[in-house]
Amino acid sequence: MFYGLNKFIKNLLPKQLFYRALLIVATPIIILQIIISVVFFDSLWIKTNKGMTRALVGEIKFFIDAYDNEQYNKDSLTKLFSDAHNLKVEYVSNKILPKNDQERWFSPMDRTLRRELKSNFANYWFDTISIQESIDLKIKYSNGYFQFIVPKDRVTNSSARIFGLWITLPAFLLIIIALIFLKNQTRPIINLAKASAKFGRGENVDEFRPSGALEIRQAGYEFDKMRKRIMRHLNQRSEMLSGISHDLRTPLTRIKLQLTFIKDKEISKKLSSDVQEMEKMLNEYLQFASSRSLEQNEKFNLTDLIINIIKKYENKSITSEINENIFMTGRKNLITRCINNLIDNGVKYANKVHIHISKSSNYNIITIDDDGPGIDKKEYENVFRPFYKINRSRGDSKSSVGLGLSIASDIIRSHGGNVTLDKSPTKGLRVKVFFPFETFL
Ligand SMILES: Nc1ncnc2c1ncn2[C@@H]1O[C@H](COP(=O)(O)OP(=O)(O)OP(=O)(O)O)[C@@H](O)[C@H]1O
Ligand SMILES: [Mg+2]
Repeated sequence: MFYGLNKFIKNLLPKQLFYRALLIVATPIIILQIIISVVFFDSLWIKTNKGMTRALVGEIKFFIDAYDNEQYNKDSLTKLFSDAHNLKVEYVSNKILPKNDQERWFSPMDRTLRRELKSNFANYWFDTISIQESIDLKIKYSNGYFQFIVPKDRVTNSSARIFGLWITLPAFLLIIIALIFLKNQTRPIINLAKASAKFGRGENVDEFRPSGALEIRQAGYEFDKMRKRIMRHLNQRSEMLSGISHDLRTPLTRIKLQLTFIKDKEISKKLSSDVQEMEKMLNEYLQFASSRSLEQNEKFNLTDLIINIIKKYENKSITSEINENIFMTGRKNLITRCINNLIDNGVKYANKVHIHISKSSNYNIITIDDDGPGIDKKEYENVFRPFYKINRSRGDSKSSVGLGLSIASDIIRSHGGNVTLDKSPTKGLRVKVFFPFETFL
């Protein structure tokens, strides 16, 4: 039960650090204001009002008693009373009190008035809203009633509104000041998160400058140190690999030349096809290593890009269903390369390729279907591994390196996207690529 309650409260609370911190600052202020207001209303406002109302009712009672005892000069007594107490009094004869009840049950003023009148008079009626800033009070007397028009400030003290203003205005000011400070405190954390996300996707992070409170700044410094170390490590590795690939090309060219001198044509043919395969591997690797680091993110039209790629193939067996214009932010050349690799596979392993693009709430989805042999479910993970080929005799194994899918998935992931394999409607392979609209946080 407590777990459920806990979860409910957690769902209710804001998720972002800024709003959480704001809540931590604002809640005590608001609670304090409420407590002060309640205490003020109860002990000061309501009690003062009660005293004032009691005094007024006492005066009225005194007046009615005096009126009762006066034999001759009732009018001048009435005038004297109304002048002295700053209210209007009138005796209305031969009329009964109105029946309808005008009392507002939730108004503290009405409640106090009712209580005080009840304990002093048997028959009364009052209305606190019809006449502005005054109370219309009627009290039964002999065959008619007295009508008193009493200014409201006789029964209530008007400082409540000013008090309300004084209590809410500073609260607002405090919250606004907290808002400004908190924004400045959370910005460095957001920047750090953005930089980490960017770095995690393999994008270039320009010089990261840590800022904010000491602890956050320290986290920033540590992140930057780690980033630089990883970058150095990656660069070293890829420089070494591309160095090896580059250096291997020279002896490979020499081998190719020497192959022509071999007399046995059978052996020469086999060797030269192996050499070709090695050359392709090296070229692919070099191309991949060089394209990776150079490109910058840009916003582009994905629909146009795909239409152009298909056009370049000049292949009737590639069909497409592309209706809407879809935009995304990313590295254009890498994405071209990724889609090329996927279409290449379709062309290589199947007869017909169908490309379809669509949009979901967060992702652009590119679906590439073919009618080839497809891939066994248990191989779905393996085919993304570098240099992995399911069947060496399958397709044109001479031109296969086994890098296509691993490069494609690497590119997709570096854009914060995802790739899945499935069966296509024509029993071949369906590759679904998801790219988020924006690749930053
Ligand atoms: N559309 C497809 N239909 C059937 N099998 C496929 C398809 N695409 C890939 N495969 C299988 O997955 C393996 C890995 O594909 P990948 O693209 O990584 O390498 P490759 O096509 O063999 O070589 P490369 O693309 O580097 O020239 C392929 O060898 C092939 O067996
Ligand atoms: Mg391939």
